[in-house]
Amino acid sequence: MYCRKLITAVSIAAAGLSAAALTDVEIDELLSRMTLVEKVGQMVQVSSGGKSAAEAEDGSGRKIDAVLAGQIRNGEIGSLLGACGVKNFNAFQKIAVEESRLGIPLMVGHDMIHGVFTQLPIPLALSCAWDEELWCKGGELIARETPLKGANWTFTPMVDISRDPRWGRIAESAGQDALVASRMSAALVRGIQTKDVAHPIAACLKHFVGYGAAMSGRDYNEVEMSESTLRNVYLPPFAAGIDAGALTVMPAFHTFNGVPCSVNKWLLSDILRGELGFKGMTISDYNAVGECAWPDHHGVADGDESVSAMAVAAGMDQDMMGESYMKTLASAVKKGLVSEKAVDGCVRNILRVKNALGLIEKPYIDEAAAKAGVDWKADAALAREAAARSAVLLKNNGALPLKPGLKVALVGPGADDLWHTVGCWATWAENTSNPTLVDGLKADGVDFKYVKAYGFRGGKVDVAAIQSAAANADVVVACFGEQGREAGENNSRMDLSLPKVQLDAIDAIKATGKPFVAVLMNGRPLAIPELAEAADAILEAWNPGTSGGWGIADVLTGRINPSGRLTTEFPYATGQCPLYYNKTRTGRPHKDGERWTTRYIDGPYGALYPFGYGLTYTTFEYSDEKVVVDGDKLVFTAKIRNTGLREGVETVQAYTRQLVAVESRPVRELRGWKRVALAPGEESVVAIEVPLANLDYWAASRKVAASGEFEAWIAPDSTKGKKLGFSIR
Ligand code: GLC
Repeated sequence: MYCRKLITAVSIAAAGLSAAALTDVEIDELLSRMTLVEKVGQMVQVSSGGKSAAEAEDGSGRKIDAVLAGQIRNGEIGSLLGACGVKNFNAFQKIAVEESRLGIPLMVGHDMIHGVFTQLPIPLALSCAWDEELWCKGGELIARETPLKGANWTFTPMVDISRDPRWGRIAESAGQDALVASRMSAALVRGIQTKDVAHPIAACLKHFVGYGAAMSGRDYNEVEMSESTLRNVYLPPFAAGIDAGALTVMPAFHTFNGVPCSVNKWLLSDILRGELGFKGMTISDYNAVGECAWPDHHGVADGDESVSAMAVAAGMDQDMMGESYMKTLASAVKKGLVSEKAVDGCVRNILRVKNALGLIEKPYIDEAAAKAGVDWKADAALAREAAARSAVLLKNNGALPLKPGLKVALVGPGADDLWHTVGCWATWAENTSNPTLVDGLKADGVDFKYVKAYGFRGGKVDVAAIQSAAANADVVVACFGEQGREAGENNSRMDLSLPKVQLDAIDAIKATGKPFVAVLMNGRPLAIPELAEAADAILEAWNPGTSGGWGIADVLTGRINPSGRLTTEFPYATGQCPLYYNKTRTGRPHKDGERWTTRYIDGPYGALYPFGYGLTYTTFEYSDEKVVVDGDKLVFTAKIRNTGLREGVETVQAYTRQLVAVESRPVRELRGWKRVALAPGEESVVAIEVPLANLDYWAASRKVAASGEFEAWIAPDSTKGKKLGFSIR
């Protein structure tokens, strides 16, 4: 093999090691030959400078950045941040493999959060498909396209449970439920780390742990939570991703009950490795190690040497874009602040991941081989299907689907905006031929005229334009939501309601008297009671990705029957957040109209649109609902009939509630689901099996077996269904 010759020539043979993938013994042999500088080097990640900063041997005459090249040659760099193009990747790798003393290959990581050249809908949207196969296919798309960007590691899947839409990173998450997020985590890891590609890449579970519970929904803010909540809600998606084989984990920026995750030994060693059995490598978030040191940041250490020592001792293997390890870790070891043995542990994890990626054998990206593995049309078609399947129909009094031949007045922001369509973390969706909603409606043959008439924020509504457009149309289709980058990292909002200009637009559209279809394009749940009241139909399209224009038009025209279900809740008002279905009952459970029960005096108690909710263009009827304990499992069954006029997919959900427990348990917990496609009039018996062990729960650090009396539901969402019961003796 190409690499085998090179490695053997340079160092592995020198170590008397085979040139094939290394065994753990051979890794330890390599480790024993490393100097402290080379060990620390493996624990350092610096910027690749991206594609523009250093064009390597591409005929332009410009060379790789000399300083960076020197650091790599001296064995001072373990990985690079920033997809840098295949040529740069191979140029950096050539220096590492052929010019450094030990020839240890580099990893290059970046955030291919929901795609690369082809962008799937944002993860929060994709989670609403409730489809593990689709999620896995999405991961495989990322695996195929990433090497062509010059990287072999993606900082995905983000598996932070997100109950608070004020927190902008809910857009990157799988929503608020541990079971949905766990299954999406495992499916994405399986897809991203598929071996069925020319160049396998590493996945990264992030951000460990509890990041979505940032106080006040404000990004980077402290997180306080009980150990029970940590274990019952926030850890399971990480456990699922680790069980699926995730090679890397990224600890989060925040403090967890006072201790920053980056130096939190209980989290990074005792739990992540000791309990969850993680064997891969940890990579810090961006300078998150350094941010523990400075007194004006977390301030848990009085300088870089001590924070480097703390982070290594806690179990942080690699320092992303910080200077702590690069500048102070070697001296911290020499001063005895941390043992070289602890450093060896970090380096061993890193070497094992590089070995598992096959980099010892194949460190270079073969562009032709990578390109041969990508079918751009098929990826675009997958993204189109994903966009349609991620959309959630929130309201429909018959205005949707748009009937053929109708004249449509399309208004509002985002309909012709590609960047808005692809949403956050879509860095490379630069291919301007990707369709917007305008393109999608054209492709589906809709007779429409588009006038923007109002923006997302600020400015005034062009009422005359709306009136004129509506006067010449049979129906108004109006876009609302957020600017494409309003969600995502460090984009917390203190007010989730629609900006005034959008509220004024609702009034103007309502005043035309024409049927009013709203299309929401946003990266998080919003507080939209005005829209819920005024519109005849509401389609939550999220930021649907590079084929989103086609996918959303497919749903609006009825070519695709929507089947999405919410994985997060829509509030009436921001003040309800954090808002989640699996809350506890309290000692005074809510009862409408009863004074001394949990409530708000200025608004409703529950969600505007609850977890698990979504409509379709047909209707379904449930009957004969049952749940029985059968040995070591629960079996839910129900007859589901399609009572409408067209085919459709129903997502049948199974929920339980333990009535009496060591600690108060949620009023409902999702235990499983099944998607069933039914023709008009067709009826099917749906069965959902749940291992009884899945009902066990944590009370702090004690795992408690589920027992006693339970309520149960097999239902279309988290608020509906006939109440059933069962007992576990
Ligand atoms: C960011 C994000 C993290 C991302 C990293 C590298 O700050 O918190 O999710 O992977 O930096 O871009």
